Amino acid sequence: MSEFNKLRISKNRGFYNVKMMNRDPHHHQNSNNNHKRSYYFYRYFKWVLWISFSLYFLTSFLITINNNMKPISSLSKTTIISTSTNPSSSVISRALFEDSSVQKPKSITSKTTESEILPLKVYVYDLPSKYNTDWLTNKRCSNHLFASEVAIHKALLNSDVRTLNPFEADFFFVPVYVSCNFNTSNGFPSLGHARPLLKSAIQFVSESAPFWNRSHGEDHVFVASHDYGACFHPMEDIAIEDGIPSFLKKSIILQTFGVRFRHPCQEVENIVIPPYVSPHKIHSSLKHATNGKRDIFAFFRGKMELHPKNINGRIYSKGIRTKIWKKFSRNRKFYLKRRRYDGYQSEIVRSVFCLCPLGWAPWSPRLVESVALGCIPVIIADNIRLPYSDKIQWSKISLTVPEKDVNKLATILDHVAATNLTTIQKNLWDPSNQRALLFNEFIETGDATWQLLDSLSKMLHLSRREPRHQPNHVVTREIEGGRVENS
Ligand SMILES: *[C@@H]1O[C@H](CO)[C@@H](O)[C@H](O)[C@H]1NC(C)=O
Ligand SMILES: *[C@@H]1O[C@H](CO)[C@@H](O)[C@H](O)[C@H]1NC(C)=O
Ligand SMILES: *[C@@H]1O[C@H](CO)[C@@H](O)[C@H](O)[C@H]1NC(C)=O
Repeated sequence: MSEFNKLRISKNRGFYNVKMMNRDPHHHQNSNNNHKRSYYFYRYFKWVLWISFSLYFLTSFLITINNNMKPISSLSKTTIISTSTNPSSSVISRALFEDSSVQKPKSITSKTTESEILPLKVYVYDLPSKYNTDWLTNKRCSNHLFASEVAIHKALLNSDVRTLNPFEADFFFVPVYVSCNFNTSNGFPSLGHARPLLKSAIQFVSESAPFWNRSHGEDHVFVASHDYGACFHPMEDIAIEDGIPSFLKKSIILQTFGVRFRHPCQEVENIVIPPYVSPHKIHSSLKHATNGKRDIFAFFRGKMELHPKNINGRIYSKGIRTKIWKKFSRNRKFYLKRRRYDGYQSEIVRSVFCLCPLGWAPWSPRLVESVALGCIPVIIADNIRLPYSDKIQWSKISLTVPEKDVNKLATILDHVAATNLTTIQKNLWDPSNQRALLFNEFIETGDATWQLLDSLSKMLHLSRREPRHQPNHVVTREIEGGRVENS
């Protein structure tokens, strides 16, 4: 992603964002190759853009009045000045707006919607690059299944909920990338460094600003996007033994791991987020879906061991994947593959049912890919807590098969195909489901970052922010009146 590209998109987002981008150090670290050239380009046009933005800001302000919007929060710049709703000024502003042609009304609406529904402010710590962007030199870092730690950080930097003033923040995002330390010999992310890296980041944060000490980290947010989340180990027994690091126990953890029973790795304020799947890859797979036909009945590609090894009492997938292979690999309705194939999304697009059995942990990126590509997820992972389950109606868009019933899969799927298949597909194909599971670089209303911010906004009791200053005297008086009535 070149800087120019970012700039072009941010044009939709007004003056405030431009200011942010000038200050944003990560922004320059994210791209290396295009870096220099686009930087000069950026410098050259900076002032031209700045003037355009100022003009846009003025016009959008006037249009806000024109639309008779209610002031949303004391922070929004429009409320500070908004008093007059003089019709003649609206006419002028509309003309000005149409002539200047710097902006389309649509994005003004969507920007307003975002701040309207998300009544919170997030401060993003500017940590030394060794904690985050240094890892991006490995391209895998921002694209693999654990990459929500990168995606959320980027989206927040670009977001309207971000504040550069920590004193007005409800939450503090601590951007540490722990899942990008790939072992050169086996390619797996190695997590051994995660605890010391996080500890050192917290030390940095608590020494350089008063906010960590103020709340003991309660209003601080971290991402733990690998198998056992806040326990930072890929093997459940060791993860449980190690537990959640004491320095994180009071904070809010965004994690892919979640189960519906007490588990030592979720004994912390947490939000279950979807694993990362690249939205670009999804859109490209959908675009290349040749005829839209779903000619595969039941699909699974992935590790299915013939003889699962017993490593210190650990059996991969609790043996479930082995059962699936043994029972159904010769069944014509099942398209089961054990080999790795990078083009597997083209198979999901062709499938009616996509099996999502547990691996080491219950969650799997297949869940996101299935939903995003319109294949009904068949969840085989007992007691899994699914992402954003208060908003996505999982029972209407997926099937859950108990682990003990895995041998009956064919019967269960046949039954659904004969009864309520079209109902489930119709529910599943509602675009809001896909949107809620994908992290975009710029937050879109209802997308995965938006959903987690929405969940965070229900935790505002943890915010230590000073009561908001009300510039509007009428509102203040109303509040005081209310207090009088109550007493
Ligand atoms: C890296 O992978 C090799 C080979 O699988 C393994 O022996 C080694 O312990 C791994 N290193 C780390 C730090 O996990
Ligand atoms: C926060 O507390 C730690 C440990 O008590 C201390 O070392 C640090 O200086 C404090 N931070 C600030 C900003 O006062
Ligand atoms: C479809 O049918 C299956 C089994 O008959 C049932 O478990 C599931 O809840 C139904 N789903 C919907 C959305 O009706």
